[in-house]
Amino acid sequence: TWANVPQGPPDAILGITEAFKADPNSEKINLGVGAYRDDKGKPYVLPSVLSAEKKIIEAKLNKEYAGITGVPEFTKAAALLAYGPNSAAIKEDRVAITQSISGTGALRIGGAFLERFYPGAKTIYIPNPSWANHSAVFKDSGLKVEQYSYYDEDTIGLDFDGMISDIKGMPEGSIILLHACAHNPTGVDPTQDQWRAISKAVKEGGHYPFFDMAYQGFASGDTDRDAFALRHFIEEGHTPCLAQSFAKNMGLYGERVGAFSLVTSTPEEKKKVDSQIKIIVRPLYSNPPIHGARIASEVLNNPALNKQWLGEVKGMADRIIEMRALLKKNLEDLGSKKQWNHITDQIGMFAYTGLTAEQMEKLAKDTSVYATKDGRISVAGITSGNVKRLAESIYKITG
Ligand code: LMR
Repeated sequence: TWANVPQGPPDAILGITEAFKADPNSEKINLGVGAYRDDKGKPYVLPSVLSAEKKIIEAKLNKEYAGITGVPEFTKAAALLAYGPNSAAIKEDRVAITQSISGTGALRIGGAFLERFYPGAKTIYIPNPSWANHSAVFKDSGLKVEQYSYYDEDTIGLDFDGMISDIKGMPEGSIILLHACAHNPTGVDPTQDQWRAISKAVKEGGHYPFFDMAYQGFASGDTDRDAFALRHFIEEGHTPCLAQSFAKNMGLYGERVGAFSLVTSTPEEKKKVDSQIKIIVRPLYSNPPIHGARIASEVLNNPALNKQWLGEVKGMADRIIEMRALLKKNLEDLGSKKQWNHITDQIGMFAYTGLTAEQMEKLAKDTSVYATKDGRISVAGITSGNVKRLAESIYKITG
């Protein structure tokens, strides 16, 4: 029956972990998937998350189903974290929100909602490059996917002029996906002034902004600062939708905690949108898992734990910044003639090295350093113990 099923390729990101696991080299380094590691290279469960989980277990809560849109204390707090305590949209009850299976699930619900109800052309423009899964998520939601300029190969920075010109060139009313902060894979974010100009261009084109905020807190170490773009767009009169993930900033990866929300113009609109989100979610997975959402809710709603968590997020962001500087220094100490400023200029979990697909393949084959083919490395996988070997490996290949 299944003889005609073609063999599919391994996943661009998660496939790297498989290749890494299969390598017997004890010195191997995995910089593929974006998952935070401590300086010993071990997965990190945030102490605030552990405390929250302990409280939840001790409370011996029941395991009844959540509603279709999830744990309300969680979604309420998630919206506040993203839109801010002074958000008029929240105060006026204009934000529809549902819990989701982390950021990917949020994007998928958003894609499905736009496919059903967005009044304009159902084309979403994503940056070139973008997270390897964006295109698949939106195509599977029934949207047409196009790209806009984002990255400048020559400067290994933002192609701001190209981005603005592409936004201006999109058919009126297009949907545009924006990485709210810590752009994945490039680590290149617009400045606040550039965001202001982007907001203006999006508005002039009558386009609809869809924010993906998978790294709130990870870019600057400050969750408010990282939400600047989203909040600025709303102040400027946009009514965006938003995918949120708590995988990275709470280290809740496998718990799959996220939220999809949509800013509407009136509480009546919100109610209608909410009803349709339920109709989308119910046949997909009925209702979301509760454990991770309860943890996130406790971390967000308990003032002491919240304060502790914000410190831990900053700690993760700071360690990454330190590793960027160390990698650059090690490359320079080796005598590399190349410019590595971009490693420290870029922010968030990833560095876009500028290495080609062939060089990345060589890096894996010859030195057991694993990362995605596009030249992205997860800086969160670098430690003070492996940075020297990593720099030597990169130097060997790039000179
Ligand atoms: C990544 O980009 O590595 C992460 O977002 C993990 C994933 O699911 O791809």
